[in-house]
Amino acid sequence: MEEEVPLEEKVRLGEEEEEEEDGGTTPNLQYRAAHQAVRERWRDTDDSMCRHSMSFHLNHTLRSEFFASYLYLVEKIPLVKLFPITCEYISGEKQFYYRAQQFYEDVPASEEGMMGDFLEISDVDLEGSRQFLKRFVGPGKAGTHCALDCGSGIGRVSKGVLLPVFEKMELADMMEHFLLHAHEEYLGQDADRIETYYCYNLQEFTPPRSKYDLVWMQWVACHLTDKDLLNFLIRCKKSLRPNGVIILKENMARQGCKLDPLDSSISRHLDIMRSIVSKAGLEVLEVERQQGLPEVIMPVWMMALK
Ligand SMILES: C[S@@+](CC[C@H](N)C(=O)[O-])C[C@H]1O[C@@H](n2cnc3c(N)ncnc32)[C@H](O)[C@@H]1O
Repeated sequence: MEEEVPLEEKVRLGEEEEEEEDGGTTPNLQYRAAHQAVRERWRDTDDSMCRHSMSFHLNHTLRSEFFASYLYLVEKIPLVKLFPITCEYISGEKQFYYRAQQFYEDVPASEEGMMGDFLEISDVDLEGSRQFLKRFVGPGKAGTHCALDCGSGIGRVSKGVLLPVFEKMELADMMEHFLLHAHEEYLGQDADRIETYYCYNLQEFTPPRSKYDLVWMQWVACHLTDKDLLNFLIRCKKSLRPNGVIILKENMARQGCKLDPLDSSISRHLDIMRSIVSKAGLEVLEVERQQGLPEVIMPVWMMALK
């Protein structure tokens, strides 16, 4: 059985901040402001909303699935609209994940597919990753024996960043056609050094214990709910060898959270990501923004964790 952080601990973000009326060190005033705004609004609407049990249900599920992000989500998107794209189950499937699955089924197994409409930034992204990674591997730091690429897709990052550094690698992705393409074509001769391809949803995947010098997660944390991301990070931590690191590279919203209902992704502000990471018991070694991306693109940040 998976060791989960007790739900109570995970969903108490709002309350914790409220208790800091004594002028204590509130980590993020934006949380408090958003929380107050929701409370104010709900005070007014409580009478009508509480008549509908769905409101209770929705509030509860949002708080447990998106414990750090829910204030923003609730603020920005009308509740009823939010429900089907996040927490609703249809035929036993959580829609947040079902939609992502549907979305990627139609995505071609190619670099274009991995990069959406932004293939032109792939090279600068890979170069930024190579430079960032360098700081955490080598003598006295992480070893170079084995790495895991989570949400690997066809292995774009594995090929351009990880395989030149690590002797062996493993890839995990929910889409079989991406992994097949990686193995049969995209990785070429280097495919011989892939020990295992895991075709799993990360929210259900437990990486082997104490195996990796590095776990790389790029553009996939956005596809997990706060709760599942937190628990996956806890499992990843256990999968590290001594001195091992996790590198998380992700679009980070300029403010609050942004939910994209098309591919079911949620981009979080860096502070929200930090909050999830720290609840997972991980220490942030370094954080750096990816340089050289066009302004129209949401900022991309790299976080090294241990
Ligand atoms: C935008 S692509 C990024 C691929 C790769 N990390 C890269 O940077 O080129 C997102 C990948 O995450 C995978 N993915 C999305 N949700 C997932 C989930 N819940 N579990 C496992 N993989 C997931 C998709 O199949 C897709 O391959």
